[in-house]
Amino acid sequence: MANTMWGGRFDLSPAQIMEEINASIGFDKRLWRQDILASKAHAAMLAATGIISADEEKAISGGLDTIANEIETGDFNFSRELEDIHLNIENRLKELIGPTAGKLHTARSRNDQVATDFRLYVRDQIDEIDGGLAALQYALAQQAAAHAATVMPGFTHLQTAQPVTFGHHCLAYVEMLSRDRGRFADARARLNESPLGSAALAGTGFPIDREMTAQALRFDRPTANSLDAVSDRDFALETLAAATIAAMHLSRLAEEIVNWASAQFSFAKLSDRFSTGSSIMPQKRNPDAAELIRAKTGRIAGAFHSLLMVMKGLPLAYAKDMQEDKEPVFDALVSLKLGIAAMTGMVGDMEPNKKAMKKAAGQGFSTATDLADWLVREAGLPFRDAHHVTGRIVALAEEKGKPLAKLELSDLQAIDPKITQDVYSVLSVAASVKSRKSYGGTAPSNVRREAGAG
Ligand code: ARG
Repeated sequence: MANTMWGGRFDLSPAQIMEEINASIGFDKRLWRQDILASKAHAAMLAATGIISADEEKAISGGLDTIANEIETGDFNFSRELEDIHLNIENRLKELIGPTAGKLHTARSRNDQVATDFRLYVRDQIDEIDGGLAALQYALAQQAAAHAATVMPGFTHLQTAQPVTFGHHCLAYVEMLSRDRGRFADARARLNESPLGSAALAGTGFPIDREMTAQALRFDRPTANSLDAVSDRDFALETLAAATIAAMHLSRLAEEIVNWASAQFSFAKLSDRFSTGSSIMPQKRNPDAAELIRAKTGRIAGAFHSLLMVMKGLPLAYAKDMQEDKEPVFDALVSLKLGIAAMTGMVGDMEPNKKAMKKAAGQGFSTATDLADWLVREAGLPFRDAHHVTGRIVALAEEKGKPLAKLELSDLQAIDPKITQDVYSVLSVAASVKSRKSYGGTAPSNVRREAGAG
């Protein structure tokens, strides 16, 4: 028997393999809430414009509520024969309320229906992700407030560069996450237009009210071009691009945590709640969550590329290729939310090892720049000369196997007679970070202010 939803001109039902490649119900059932919400808005509009009667609208809307309840409680029978979530719901509506169900699809196509459902879904996800990112920012800011003066080595090229504070390091990620939130907010603002009423591709001859459905679904306005509305997936791509960048940020932090948790760095200890053991090596505390967060960046970035490739050669308007938009988006956003939540837990529980970080901060002549700056400020040397003098002092310290602060004054004066006892006041790591008070610098006073800790 031919398909009951669209099989009027068909004699035979689809081949098994056709059904298998065509069906999306296995994954798009995730859109059921959005589908029902949009259908109710559409039905209310059809009644308000006199396209269907008030009684018909009541029957449709009641039936949709019943279906929502069935799906919620697991009593709904999803059928692959019925292809996708839209036809599954419509078919059940017919079983529940009879032929009136067929009126719901007036002035609508699955093309504008799926575009609407998917926008609503992505919009909900963006809101959830924003909440998650805000919570992660809060966890980082808490660590920053607690460790505004905890000194650690700052690296460039992963070589010890200058001392910084752990709080400052945490706040660097807070900044990245702010930009991520901004990118999601931009994507949300642009996607917030309603495709509903664009119908298959050309609009409709029925006297519909697109403003009404747009408002009911909390869209800012209806989309302006029906061809564009049913074939645009920019909103999903833009969201995936924002997700990819956010995942990249999480991955960088995850990579640092993996390093910090190692015996070699020992900069931080992860809680038992966020570590795993080894089945053979009893001493191990593995940072698996951080590693998985780092790895998920691959599939999130992959999702962006996957959808970009699906879209790149499609002529207007809708093509079935676009059904392949959903799985990458679902997978990427679920992965990102999980990564954000795990990172939030890990950061909240993490205990920085102050002693190890302070010790490492003093290694590698990390206050050499402070020495050069002192020579500029107190001895009047041009910075380039000060750099050269400091280089010679570092070479001496290296030869003697001592940190800068442990060199004798006479040794320093042999290199430059303008050096006085006062120079020792800038050679400690604590003095170094304290002096970095320039706007955006690592000084504990800055960090406290930025972390909202006074
Ligand atoms: N399941 C389809 C999708 O996700 C819905 C739209 C189908 N439209 C059509 N004309 N076959 O894209």
